[in-house]
Amino acid sequence: MNKNKVTASAPGKLMLFGEHSVVYGKPCIVTAVNQRIWVSIQKLDERKLQISAPDVSVLDYKLNLDKAGLGKHIPKGAIFIEYAVRNFKNKFDLPTGIKITTKSDFSSKFGFGSSSATTVATIKALSELFKVRLSLKQLFDLSYETVLQIQGIGSGFDLAAAIWGGTLYFVGGGKKIVPIKTSKIPLIVGYTGIKADTATLVKKVGSFYKTKRKTVRKIFEMIEDIVSSAKIAFLKNDFKNLGELMNLNQGFLDSLGVNTKELSDLIFAARDGGAYGAKLSGAGGGDCMIALTGNRHKATVEHAIKKAGGTILDVKPGADGVKIEL
Ligand code: MEV
Repeated sequence: MNKNKVTASAPGKLMLFGEHSVVYGKPCIVTAVNQRIWVSIQKLDERKLQISAPDVSVLDYKLNLDKAGLGKHIPKGAIFIEYAVRNFKNKFDLPTGIKITTKSDFSSKFGFGSSSATTVATIKALSELFKVRLSLKQLFDLSYETVLQIQGIGSGFDLAAAIWGGTLYFVGGGKKIVPIKTSKIPLIVGYTGIKADTATLVKKVGSFYKTKRKTVRKIFEMIEDIVSSAKIAFLKNDFKNLGELMNLNQGFLDSLGVNTKELSDLIFAARDGGAYGAKLSGAGGGDCMIALTGNRHKATVEHAIKKAGGTILDVKPGADGVKIEL
C-alpha cells in the first residue's frame, strides 16, 4: 500500500425520527445511506494545504498549511476540510504538507449531510496517514468540534451516522450513540425539489421555543416518547407500528412550524398509496420526505409520490460507516 496516500470514505444520512428535538438534547434515530464521499490525502514535500473538490467547484486551491482555517474568505466547498485539518494539526501536529482530493456520489442539494461526511472522512484519512489512533468517539468529538465552529449549531447526529454507519439511536451532542440491529428497512425517499436551509429552520424552532417554551418543551417530550417506541419497534422489525409512529412524529413537526405544503402533498400521497406511514426527514422546509411501506404497496406508493410532484431518490438505508479504502 502507498504510505504517502490514504483514501477514506464516509456515508450520508437520513433522519428517521426525532429531528429538531435532538438539538435540545433529546434522542433521534438516524440511518446511514448508500451515498458516499471519498477523501484522498497525499503527503507533499512543501508545507502547503492543497484542495481539489471538483464536485463543489474547488479546483487546485492552495494555501500555507499553517494558515489552514484562519482565512477570512475560505471557499464554501473547502471550509469543512480546512477546519478539520486545522483542528487535527492543533491536536496531533502535521509534519508535512498535504494534498486533499474529494469525490462525491451525492448531490449536496438533497441534504444528505455531505459536509459532515467530508469532515469525518478528512479526519479519518489524516489519522490513518499520520498514524494517529482515534477511537470512534474521539473521531466524533473532533468532527463535532469542527462542525460547531463552522455552523454554530447542530446535534451531531449526521456525524454519528457517517462514523458508525447502520441505523443508530443518538442522543443530542453524542451523549449516547447506540447501534440498532434491524433488518432491511422498507424505506421510500421522495424529494420535493425544494432546497431547504437547515440553519434557518433550526433558528425558527429556536425562536418558537423562546416564545412558547412550556408548550414546545412538551412537544419535544412527546417526540422523545415516539423515538423510544420507535427504537423498540425497530428491534422487532414492526414496520406497521413504525409507520404509525412516523405519522405521529410528523404531526408534532408540523406543530413546530417546519412542514410545508409540498412536503404534506408527498406525505399524504404516500399514505393514500398504502404506506404504513410517512413524515418529513431532516430540518423540513423542503428537501425530503420518507415513507415506510410493505412490498405489496411499494410501486403504488412510489407512483403516488411522483404523481404529487415528488422525485423518488434511489437511497438505501443502513450503509457502512467511515472506512479506509484499500
Ligand atoms: C437536520 O437534518 C436535523 C436537525 O435536527 C438539526 C440537527 O440535528 O443538527 C433539524
